Amino acid sequence: MKRNLALEFIRVTEIAAINSARWMGKGDEKSADQAAVDGMRKMLDTIDCKGVVVIGEGERDEAPMLYIGEEVGTGSGPEIEIALDPLEGTTICAKGTQNSISVMAIGGKGSLLNAPDIYMKKIAVGPDGVGAIDIMDTATNNLKRLAQRKKCEIQDLTVSILDRPRHEELIKEVREAGARIYLIGDGDVSTAIATALPDTGIDMMIGTGGAPEGVIAAAALRCIKGDFQGILVPRNDDDIARAKKMGVDDINKIYTMDELAKGDVMFIATGVTDGSMLKGVKFKPWGALTHSIVMRSKSGTIRHITAEHHFDRKPVY
Ligand code: FBP
Repeated sequence: MKRNLALEFIRVTEIAAINSARWMGKGDEKSADQAAVDGMRKMLDTIDCKGVVVIGEGERDEAPMLYIGEEVGTGSGPEIEIALDPLEGTTICAKGTQNSISVMAIGGKGSLLNAPDIYMKKIAVGPDGVGAIDIMDTATNNLKRLAQRKKCEIQDLTVSILDRPRHEELIKEVREAGARIYLIGDGDVSTAIATALPDTGIDMMIGTGGAPEGVIAAAALRCIKGDFQGILVPRNDDDIARAKKMGVDDINKIYTMDELAKGDVMFIATGVTDGSMLKGVKFKPWGALTHSIVMRSKSGTIRHITAEHHFDRKPVY
């Protein structure tokens, strides 16, 4: 994959972020998401590639745009697969709280797991924790091993967990183990990646969230050499059927990071609201300021890009 492609794709997450940030705090999740989808879809068509959405807004009959299997791009250029979430954390954006982002991962054919839209149990750590995690083991043992690797005590570690009733036992266990907890309302992609970035203060992300979000987080962690494991958590027969339809034969399979995102992958995200990984969109009299991150697994380069968007000269905004 051409390396410049990643820089091209920033425009896509930037416009989705700007569009949805207009809806920050307005309590209207649907409009915030729609604004992001519209912006992302429109901008994708200006990029020279033969892209196929493998993780998107849903199946063809559920989503009119950015559905799984939709072809995007100009149609000339490299063949790529795209896992995208125009607004990861719609509720966060609608409430105006932390960690909503516009995000995409791209790779060659067969590189990104076509994950069904069901739950996945996940664990994520940064480079210090590579090889120290085991999703089948207890949170306490995972924390013990991470503390050993980081040469610190468990009480010095901070774990991000989605604030959900299903995590009541997990939260209790992590508290009893002595670690600090960063409870989030939504947005486990950001905090999974934050485990691998300096100065975010998050050492581990653990718990059950969306499987598609797991693939996107795994792609980012591959670029930064962190670690991630996931296992699908079907709630009923319908979830199992969804997984089968997407080609999952073994519902109990433990997915490693390299199985979720293979080969040469790129990750691009722009902040919508402020968060542990990115700053949110700031509107100015002349336009908007955005903060994005771009990473490539091949080179390991991580770029933080702050952009000024002058609306009078860019009619697209
Ligand atoms: P949306 O972008 O669809 O709002 O998802 C946000 C999110 O919090 C993800 O980050 C997370 O993986 C998933 O939802 C958790 O699902 P649920 O809200 O059903 O617990």
